[in-house]
Amino acid sequence: MSKTIIAGIGSYVPERVVTNEELTRLMDTSDEWIQARTGIEERRYAKRFEETTATMGAEAAKIAIERAGITAADIDFVIFATLSPDYYFPGCGVLVQRILGLKEVGALDVRNQCSGFIYGISIADQFIKTGMYKNILLIGSETHSYALDFSTRGRNVSVIFGDGAAAVVLQPSPEDGRGILSTHLHSDGHNAEILSMPNPGFHCGVHNEQWKPSVPENPYGSLFINQELLDKEDFYPYMDGQAVFKKAVVKMPEAVMEALNQNGLAVDDIDLLVPHQANLRISQMIQQTMGLGEGKVFNNIQKYGNTTAASVPLALCEAWETGKVNKGDLVCLAAFGSGFTWGSALMRW
Ligand code: COA
Repeated sequence: MSKTIIAGIGSYVPERVVTNEELTRLMDTSDEWIQARTGIEERRYAKRFEETTATMGAEAAKIAIERAGITAADIDFVIFATLSPDYYFPGCGVLVQRILGLKEVGALDVRNQCSGFIYGISIADQFIKTGMYKNILLIGSETHSYALDFSTRGRNVSVIFGDGAAAVVLQPSPEDGRGILSTHLHSDGHNAEILSMPNPGFHCGVHNEQWKPSVPENPYGSLFINQELLDKEDFYPYMDGQAVFKKAVVKMPEAVMEALNQNGLAVDDIDLLVPHQANLRISQMIQQTMGLGEGKVFNNIQKYGNTTAASVPLALCEAWETGKVNKGDLVCLAAFGSGFTWGSALMRW
């Protein structure tokens, strides 16, 4: 069976830079607090009424397609990972199919938040290894800034997240030895609500009383969204940051070690680890606990914040563009996030 390579990679971030200082004008926070706790200096926000998750994803895809040396007509499957889709349904995959004028190929949306790109790589890898598809377009894209609570109430979440997109084209490897060595996916739903956006939603409060909607007067009234939700402004993401932090620093290294062990490799063999850009302190802790040397963990959260499904490919793209990823390098991608879901992808570039 042929291995899968990343044949082309591209990214797109909105022009608008939002500094920590700008956020201090909206909520009780400070540049010092944000930098000390997260490492984030600035992030990008999409241009309202113009840019969306799908349009930014399409821009990133155009670059990835060109760099892969193919055209849009060669794409034979689309995978789109996001938690901030343009529409509740249909997904962003079909919107990209339309924007890029792709053939009537399959389009799959992945709802795995921060680990969405890793899950997408794994899905693409299975299709390519079996010979089903030859040019898979995988996109991670987010527009968080359209639905964050910019008051002090939401500051623990809103200072962290940013907008952006990145995409890759996956193909069968032209050479022995190069390509994805393995992918490893995990989940644990016990703490699904710890990092979540339950509303609007179809849950009716069955998983958690806290989010139980009041019974509407009309027995057929919407349980998805109602006036009470709007009045209480109960439609923002929720996060218990410390609980997420504690799990992330354990589960990401575990997924990396699982990949290394499966392939008979050691930590020292890694040329570059590209972790999900959740928090600079998480990346630094992983580097320290795993004993990864200087320059072996790539971070760009300082400039973009946490871009969820876009974060791993956005970092990988910059690492590649700046010459930190070269042919033959052992590159490991790892992510952890809402769900919880997490995983890793190990590849010989
Ligand atoms: N500015 C200023 N103060 C803030 C703040 C902000 N933006 N956000 C929270 N605080 C305050 C809290 O209200 C709290 O105040 P209190 O002590 O008076 O109650 C204090 O800072 C400490 O809050 P805490 O949540 O314990 O801080 P923390 O050190 O855990 O840092 C995170 C918060 C969110 C930065 C951190 O927990 C984190 O990054 N966790 C991982 C999150 C993550 O990775 N999410 C995405 C996963 S994919």
